[in-house]
Amino acid sequence: MKIIAGNWKMNGTRAALDEMITALGNVDTKNRMILCVPFTMLRPVNGAVKIGAQDISSHDHGAYTGEISGGMLTDAGASYVIVGHSERRAYHNESNADVCAKATAALQAGLVPIICVGETMDEKNADRTMEIIEHGVRESVPQSGGDVIVAYEPRWAIGAGLTPSDDEIASAHTLIANTLADMGRGGTPVLYGASVKGNNAAQIMAIDHVDGVLVGGASLKPDDFIPIITSVK
Ligand code: 13P
Repeated sequence: MKIIAGNWKMNGTRAALDEMITALGNVDTKNRMILCVPFTMLRPVNGAVKIGAQDISSHDHGAYTGEISGGMLTDAGASYVIVGHSERRAYHNESNADVCAKATAALQAGLVPIICVGETMDEKNADRTMEIIEHGVRESVPQSGGDVIVAYEPRWAIGAGLTPSDDEIASAHTLIANTLADMGRGGTPVLYGASVKGNNAAQIMAIDHVDGVLVGGASLKPDDFIPIITSVK
């Protein structure tokens, strides 16, 4: 069983989500399917598809205009939330500490945070990939609380049609799995994300410690997303 999560980013409509949920409802799979959608599209869904958000406030209520709390996300039908996505880190200056606070808020609200870590191109070129990943995990994943998911997203590869080599993915995922075990979170699923498509998903998910994928562009249309889901058992 793998976890196949879509990240719609700032794309889609409620009608497109309805179509996707109907299409996924007809897919014969044991894999866990999650769609992380814009706040305005959150809604309760019965069935195999689970719904997630893409950000959360670290506060639980109060004078924080424009923010959305974990309680509001569960009230709207979410059971997952992405935290620390590369685009939030880049455009909203989110640090590992910010991400950890958001993940903690998610756990307190009963949501499963999908916590993203990964290196930029500059960090990769400076040979800092492993250090960035390990710090990302140690500083972004809460020490205690319920289940989490970690996503390794090499930031230079997102939306770029680029993927690391299988060996690079294996090294990153092994480091993440070992770091999580050292933190007392052994067995936490680790997803790979960045330019996953129908034609590379099975190969990526065959790599050690790759427990699923977090898919951006190819999660927007059933014809692109379903082949990823059905590419693995
Ligand atoms: P792409 O699949 O479009 O590269 O996006 C990956 C991503 O950022 C998922 O969170």
